[in-house]
Amino acid sequence: MIRELVVTFYDRVLRDPELGPIFHKAVSGRWSEHLAVMVDFWSSIALRTARYSGKPQAAHMGLDLTPELFARWLDLFAGTAREILKPDVAEFFIERARRIAESLQIGLGIGPKALRLP
Ligand code: HEM
Repeated sequence: MIRELVVTFYDRVLRDPELGPIFHKAVSGRWSEHLAVMVDFWSSIALRTARYSGKPQAAHMGLDLTPELFARWLDLFAGTAREILKPDVAEFFIERARRIAESLQIGLGIGPKALRLP
């Protein structure tokens, strides 16, 4: 189930006009490794398998990410999750993704909290 979510979502991400180029540039030639890491990541979150032990914050530095790009990412993710997963399971994944997106943005200095500063 997690594999299907990850494969379908990143297939859409790659074809997205805004997100696609970022991934093509950053992950070119390592796509299947990226998918495997993302399956481990979600497996760790949803099933507490501890299969993932990376550093998501560092992976997103230097990519020039914006709140708009995060909103796009979350939109695509929510759409895919609601299509593929049972409703309660989909909402669990979406809620986790939202919270992680928020903490990534705060870490990058572009978070909702950063934006509210004068
Ligand atoms: C604007 C939105 C986002 C973009 C453009 C983006 C882009 C990327 C890229 C290009 C990588 C690969 C880095 C590399 O291997 O060199 C990556 C890795 C990763 N992303 Fe994102 N990401 C976004 C949002 C998110 C969100 C919201 C999550 C979590 C819910 C997430 C979780 C991860 C994880 C776990 C990795 C693997 C890090 C590692 O190598 O251990 N990303 N992302």
